[in-house]
Amino acid sequence: MKRRALLQALATLPTWSAPWAGAATPRATITAEPAIIDAAGSQALPVWAYEGQVPGPVLRYRRGQVLDLTLHNALPDPSTIHWHGIRTPHAMDGVPHLTQVPVAPGERFHYRFALPDAGTFWYHPHLGTPEQVERGLAGALIVEDDAPPAVDADWVWLIDDWRLDASGRIAEDFYDFRDVAHAGRQGQQLTVNGQPPAIHALQGGQRLRLRLINAANARIFALELGGLPAWLIARDGVPSKIAEAWEGPLLLGPGMRADLIIDATVPGRHAVVDRFGRGERVLAAFEVGASVAGHPRPAPTPAWRDPLPEPDLAGADTHTIVFGGGMMSRSGWPEESAREREARRQRRLAGSREADPAWSLNGQAHMNHVSMSPPEFSVAAGRSVRLVFDNRTAWWHPMHLHGHHFRVLSRNGEALPHRPWRDTVLMAPGDQVEIAFVADNPGRWLLHCHVLEHHAGGMGTVFDVRG
Ligand code: C2O
Ligand code: CU
Repeated sequence: MKRRALLQALATLPTWSAPWAGAATPRATITAEPAIIDAAGSQALPVWAYEGQVPGPVLRYRRGQVLDLTLHNALPDPSTIHWHGIRTPHAMDGVPHLTQVPVAPGERFHYRFALPDAGTFWYHPHLGTPEQVERGLAGALIVEDDAPPAVDADWVWLIDDWRLDASGRIAEDFYDFRDVAHAGRQGQQLTVNGQPPAIHALQGGQRLRLRLINAANARIFALELGGLPAWLIARDGVPSKIAEAWEGPLLLGPGMRADLIIDATVPGRHAVVDRFGRGERVLAAFEVGASVAGHPRPAPTPAWRDPLPEPDLAGADTHTIVFGGGMMSRSGWPEESAREREARRQRRLAGSREADPAWSLNGQAHMNHVSMSPPEFSVAAGRSVRLVFDNRTAWWHPMHLHGHHFRVLSRNGEALPHRPWRDTVLMAPGDQVEIAFVADNPGRWLLHCHVLEHHAGGMGTVFDVRG
């Protein structure tokens, strides 16, 4: 988009009018079912929704509270809920075949676990995800800090993109091989909390905590905010040591979160623009009243938190995971026997929706039933693990680890200043990234690319923590 087009887009933005789903009512059941709602710029869009809303209700708890929620599956397909970023006990992780049986249509599953960490997390199905998440199944899970930084407002923006067909419906080309083998499913309609770009009013002087969650299947955002002072205070739910000024583009891959503090101290309209890849797109804008502006405020202090277990780097087991495959890559394209190909063709004819293999981790494509394959590595509970991710593909991959947070130690040989904690790390083409964590959560856990079509095309594996 040219500068002028950007300004025009900004001038014609509607004002945010959807009801604000900030406060959560405690609930015992969460129902997933088809619904017809006002979303993505359409007045009657058929979606799949939690509690009839897209995104699903914001689930809010305090640290240490118990999440006690029954999923009622009223979808035509089996489903589960995965609590992304939460260090749950293995049986509560929501991964079909690996941690639980899929919840069949009409059935229920009871999730119950204590919430060990405060922060911005989210929930989504972990079965048929390229379709189920795209149809609207995702929501924010907020665990309040014990001593949160003082703010005047606390907003959640679950950001997404939607691929709509000519009639404005969700295009049903899930698992399209071009998406699987390239950058995943990209949609033309950006949304914040299910609604197209809009203007959000802030009172002059207000300090806002903005919790960003990238719930897109595949879109990476590189977000910039011009004109208002802002800081990054947490990544993937984990508070930063010190608040970092949000100046350059903030890269947010699928699955990743960022907590920001924004001070409404400059009157006017301020756009949040995505500049990832080609062109630029307005995601939203803030409107700060002209009458009352505020004085600049001091940088916020991120919330204190019990430290996560510190990995022992000297004594760590080291494992390397090489990524291969995808279009235009020279190596690692997964091999498939004629028998496997034929079996897949037969399943498709019988109505199964699945991807063809396109990606490999250490030479292997792990298709649907990852639980059957031997773990990538196995470690005794309590040991430290150093993982080297080696991206030999021509594509970006947000790599997500279940059951644990990890420190990002280095990227392409350069140590990262604060070795930030994350649960998902974004890898550029050719990147080598080192992470480390204490494997203290027993069970078999997934490790996968959060571009949902990449995962479906083989880019996920399992590691074993022996209890
Ligand atoms: Cu949010 Cu295994 O995923
Ligand atoms: Cu990927």
